[in-house]
Amino acid sequence: MENTNTEQRKTIFSGIQPSGNITIGNYLGALRNWVKLQYEYDCLYCIVDMHSITVRQNPAELRRRSLEVLALYLAVGIDPEKNIIFLQSHVPAHAELAWVLNCYTMFGELSRMTQFKDKAAKHPENVNAGLFTYPVLMAADILLYQADLVPVGQDQKQHIELTRDIAERFNGIYGETFKIPEPYIPKEGTKIMSLTEPTKKMSKSDTGGGSISMLDDRDTIVRKIKRAVTDSGSEVKYAEGKDGINNLLTIYAGFTRKTIAEAEKEFEGKGYGDFKLAVAEVVADELGRIQAEFNRRLADKEQLNAILKNGSERAAYLARKTLSKVYRKVGFYILEK
Ligand code: TYM
Repeated sequence: MENTNTEQRKTIFSGIQPSGNITIGNYLGALRNWVKLQYEYDCLYCIVDMHSITVRQNPAELRRRSLEVLALYLAVGIDPEKNIIFLQSHVPAHAELAWVLNCYTMFGELSRMTQFKDKAAKHPENVNAGLFTYPVLMAADILLYQADLVPVGQDQKQHIELTRDIAERFNGIYGETFKIPEPYIPKEGTKIMSLTEPTKKMSKSDTGGGSISMLDDRDTIVRKIKRAVTDSGSEVKYAEGKDGINNLLTIYAGFTRKTIAEAEKEFEGKGYGDFKLAVAEVVADELGRIQAEFNRRLADKEQLNAILKNGSERAAYLARKTLSKVYRKVGFYILEK
């Protein structure tokens, strides 16, 4: 039921980078939960384009993808009337607060971030300072809006813990300034693995057969799932060490809104082949519906621009309040009006 009492409503902030193809991992781990949360919380859903440039992007593609992510938000059912939807680079307070927070974040803390270590290993030619301070910009995103909850997949948990540490440190020095946010990580679907290497997470940057994009067509989905790595067993059962089958079961359960146990039961006595076809079927059906709506939304540039304009104005207003407080606290001289 919709909670209309705004006094009691908590604030949610989350975001997705418009780099690479949005995957079913992003969908099950984040996007789909956002849709549910919009009825109970005041939500800000951001497209974090400033985070994307920590890895080299093709400018035309980044621009195109930013609008595509917006169209995808709308296509999965995120309502621009209920939520504030905006592009990170349209609200300067994100970069401004990130600078201040950089001065309250330790080199050692950032060095321990596993995402930094992974990405630095993946792009050894471009281990730039932005990649290193990436989690500080993320902390700024969240803290600017005094968010209570941050719905993300498992891989972002460490960044949210760091956000809490930074906020607590700042509050400790200057008094209550930031709300301390909690991660919101649902039980299932929070770590969808690669189809080709099921011990690694499914990633947007995987352009081979490991990831299913939200925009893949039916044939591609069927082909990728058919080729998904499984073990040599034959029982469709969730078990230690059966990473490939466990992952497909998680995907199936996610798309059918069933529990893993219900899914296992359904495939009792059936082989991997039948199971894979069924997984492909439910994924392709749901993505097909989303893609039809996505194409409709993407065609209306005027509406997309209007949503971004409105969203960034509303976000900027809220962000300014926190940023002014921070500037005052750290001792920046404020001009009288
Ligand atoms: P990003 O763009 O990598 O991913 C967006 C969301 O999808 C989740 N996710 C997954 N969930 C399950 N299985 C997977 N294989 C999988 N891959 C990704 C992520 O956990 C995330 O929730 N740093 C963030 C973006 C960000 C942000 C923020 C998030 C910037 N500022 C503030 C929350 C709050 C990121 O790179 O997500």
